[in-house]
Amino acid sequence: MKDARTPYDELLASAREREQEHIFAYWDRLSEQQKDALLQQIQQIDFDLLHELYQTIAANKKAADLTFEPVQPIPLPRAEAQKQEAQEMAAVGEQILREGKIGAILVAGGQGTRLGFDGPKGIFPIGPVSQKSLFQLHAEKLLAIRRRYETRVPWYIMTSESNHAATVNFFEDHHYFSLPKEDVFFFVQGMMPALNEQGKLIMDRPDHVFMSPDGHGGIFAALKNSGALEDMRNRGIEYLFYFQVDNVLVKICDPVFLGYHIHQQADMSAKVVSKRDPFEKVGVVGRINGKLGVIEYSDMSDDDKLARDEHGNLLYNAGSIAIHVLSRNFIEKICGNDINLPWHIAHKKVPYIDAQGQTIQPARPNGYKFERFIFDALNYAERAVVLEVDRAEEFSPVKNADGDDSPATARRDMTRLFASWLRAADFPLPENVDGMRLEISPLFALDRDEFLNKIEGKLRIPTAFYLE
Ligand code: UTP
Repeated sequence: MKDARTPYDELLASAREREQEHIFAYWDRLSEQQKDALLQQIQQIDFDLLHELYQTIAANKKAADLTFEPVQPIPLPRAEAQKQEAQEMAAVGEQILREGKIGAILVAGGQGTRLGFDGPKGIFPIGPVSQKSLFQLHAEKLLAIRRRYETRVPWYIMTSESNHAATVNFFEDHHYFSLPKEDVFFFVQGMMPALNEQGKLIMDRPDHVFMSPDGHGGIFAALKNSGALEDMRNRGIEYLFYFQVDNVLVKICDPVFLGYHIHQQADMSAKVVSKRDPFEKVGVVGRINGKLGVIEYSDMSDDDKLARDEHGNLLYNAGSIAIHVLSRNFIEKICGNDINLPWHIAHKKVPYIDAQGQTIQPARPNGYKFERFIFDALNYAERAVVLEVDRAEEFSPVKNADGDDSPATARRDMTRLFASWLRAADFPLPENVDGMRLEISPLFALDRDEFLNKIEGKLRIPTAFYLE
């Protein structure tokens, strides 16, 4: 006998089974087009998974049974032998760059809620003098790397449904910032619905279930489903340098970091910085129940945060800055074995519709959003390098509209870094350059050494100056 059940019937039945049938409440008022769109959206929803997640929330399961241990990163090179080692590692990284085995992954699918900028965060103007965008800044670093090592570095950029078109258009409008278009690969991450405090899916329009990007940990599924992973394989890419859109100081494809990772045959590696103070709100790279991972700030007790080692240093000091190298084989392993990273739950404000079908923006958190985090993949790494770097040289993220980690602090930190390069070239600058704006394009110099080589004798500094 022919099965007369339509997709509508089937989805309604699945929704009913999990007491989510209210998502069809406005069905009779929808146009055919709206009905199709809603069905397509509902098709993506994993009702069982959401049910399970809600059970976790309802049971109020805390991270009570987690045990933490610190890890000792490879320290900043201070002694001569350490400097020598870093140089050797740089040579390893440079060689693999020249061989064209490195790709770059940028995750730019987030919503940038805290910054509150209208559009993808990557188009935010950040250059202290040039006002160039975050995307342009990153693109120019990659272009400079390509030129320096006479190589190609394919760039994989993760977007989400809500910012994909705007991101691609921005690159098109700017002619890919002179990068070859065929070396820039956009891929879209997945979306995840939210639940209200009663465990119900949230409608933000009569024809739409609220969904948000599934976190930077959604990258594995997205790399696989989009064909980006296959593209890496076809191009012979062995290692991926991972970074986030908001860090203005990121040393893209840093050969030292790549070198350590390659030399130690690591699966996944992480850069860390020394914490500013015990209560700085960053995750710490450490062991969680014996396995490498990032200990979340909210999971640490004050005792953990304040604990010191025998030298008086913070015990949990390895602040995670979301810069990684991943071996392609490791990504293949995660994707191939369908390893599912855990979901993190956040209580947030989620728009919803009232009985009349009007969208309401709540004033306080009213729902739970679910995200996966890339750093949970460290758990599965059999080998990993944890490398300490200097915050002043490598980490200044644009997260908030003002205050800490804002455009103002990012421009200040860029200015401070460039001031240190200029001083090294004997350019007279006041000790405190805050309030000034200095900028050196990555296309002029990617780092201090390159700057000093290029600038030699070109900066004209008056040795005598007289005004009367
Ligand atoms: P954040 O966690 O800082 O989020 O992302 P955000 O979206 O930039 O800002 P808020 O929290 O809404 O204010 C860190 C990096 O991870 C990317 C972001 O684009 C940023 O580069 N990301 C985050 C994704 O690509 N997808 C996500 O689902 C979440």
